[in-house]
Amino acid sequence: MTAALAVDGLSVVYDGYYALDAVGVEVNKGESFGLVGESGSGKSTLLRAVAGLAPVTDGTIRVDGELLKGARRSKAFYRQVQMVFQDPYGSLHPRQTIDRLLLEPLAIHGIGDTETRIARALDEVGLGTGFRFRYPHQLSGGQRQRVAIARALIVEPSILLLDEPTSALDASVQAEVLNLLEQVRKDRNLTFVMVSHDLGVITHMCVRLAVMRNGAVVERLTAKELAAGDVKEDYTRNLMVASKGFVRA
Ligand SMILES: Nc1ncnc2c1ncn2[C@@H]1O[C@H](COP(=O)(O)OP(=O)(O)OP(=O)(O)O)[C@@H](O)[C@H]1O
Ligand SMILES: [Mg+2]
Repeated sequence: MTAALAVDGLSVVYDGYYALDAVGVEVNKGESFGLVGESGSGKSTLLRAVAGLAPVTDGTIRVDGELLKGARRSKAFYRQVQMVFQDPYGSLHPRQTIDRLLLEPLAIHGIGDTETRIARALDEVGLGTGFRFRYPHQLSGGQRQRVAIARALIVEPSILLLDEPTSALDASVQAEVLNLLEQVRKDRNLTFVMVSHDLGVITHMCVRLAVMRNGAVVERLTAKELAAGDVKEDYTRNLMVASKGFVRA
């Protein structure tokens, strides 16, 4: 089976500094793949490089077998691959209503039937059409992140790149948004690549994961192995201790 996402030997270098150093990752269709690692280990850089937001120095990125060339991404790419960021406040334009925010990606991709699609998208993320004409500041953090997810889903992508999608939220709201993500992944057979510093979130959401350090993958694990503490690297063990409530130190 062709991997939904195949990254091989990928390097991103800033002024001689290897933010990513020959990283290889393969994610199957419909799979939820986790990325963990200490701050600065290159997790966001990897997602950003895939999205064309970080300069690739070396290596290849394939989506559905198709080689991406350079940093330019086609419109078709952004229909296929959408990114959701940690801070829904930063990623939603403050002066646009939810309606406008959801209309924009439809307009960019020339997708019609906007009324129905916006209503459906709001329903799908559990908000309902009552939220249509509100502004982001009139929403809670969890509701804003639901809008960000609706905005990503409205163009019907097959891959979501999720960079700490719930770490700005309270624990109970975080669980709701994670459940929503899991539900839409199943419903739409989506592929996820999810970054989190919370290993509990990763074991809950993902089947396989890669552990990153200094721009490189140091260990690949199944979520089961991680949950059982069946890890090879001391570095991974230290991450487990540092992740609150994951293991007793
Ligand atoms: N545009 C940039 N210019 C220079 N250096 C950068 C740039 N973006 C990232 N870096 C560096 O690359 C390294 C990896 O950063 P990255 O944001 O990928 O880490 P991360 O694993 O996502 O960390 P965190 O968990 O804190 O989000 C860091 O040392 C960072 O300072
Ligand atoms: Mg990051």
